[in-house]
Amino acid sequence: MSMAALGRQRRLGVDHDVFVTATCYASATGRERPKADINNLFMIKKFFDNLLELKLNDEPTEGQLNCIGVSMVVLAKSVELDKKRYRKAIDSEELVYPLYEADFGPSLYLVSDAAGVQSAPHEHQTWAVIVGLSGNELNVTYEIFEFRTKTVKPVSETEVKSMDFICLSSKAIHSTCAAGREATYHLHLYGQPLHKLPSYQSRCYSGVLEN
Ligand SMILES: [Fe+2]
Repeated sequence: MSMAALGRQRRLGVDHDVFVTATCYASATGRERPKADINNLFMIKKFFDNLLELKLNDEPTEGQLNCIGVSMVVLAKSVELDKKRYRKAIDSEELVYPLYEADFGPSLYLVSDAAGVQSAPHEHQTWAVIVGLSGNELNVTYEIFEFRTKTVKPVSETEVKSMDFICLSSKAIHSTCAAGREATYHLHLYGQPLHKLPSYQSRCYSGVLEN
């Protein structure tokens, strides 16, 4: 998809302020809040145990992020999706299912975007790793062109399909698009839980310098 088309069809991103969840945010009794069903809990717990061993700080190194990406692929291969519990997005839906949320620290979500759904360029202000389960999440990364007008310039495009991953530093700016005809299922890991991030609007960039 061309950058011009991306600019025209920009929509809210999956980490916007109000997102749809099929699992509830009910009572957290501990520091960690596993949300997944029992079939996936073991693998997710194992993944987070491995993550602890990396002793991450707020700015993981490129090597650490890559290591996380490889571990997420292993996790992705083991995840069994209950298609009723984690139904796939339709029409223009963006579904975000919390799988494992911490009060502070890395948190994992299953994201399903309907075909054609796109986000505005935005930053997370924390690191992120995305791995594909199915569908094609086209990620465009940007650099700041003019800070005053919040204008960004695209610098790369990466298709994240099944078992591909992309790593984003806390300073990265990206947009996503569910490219193709199929809705996506992707795992998104963020350095902090989504509800702890500043508002989505405040993290968006309004102008895109078209190629
Ligand atoms: Fe994002």
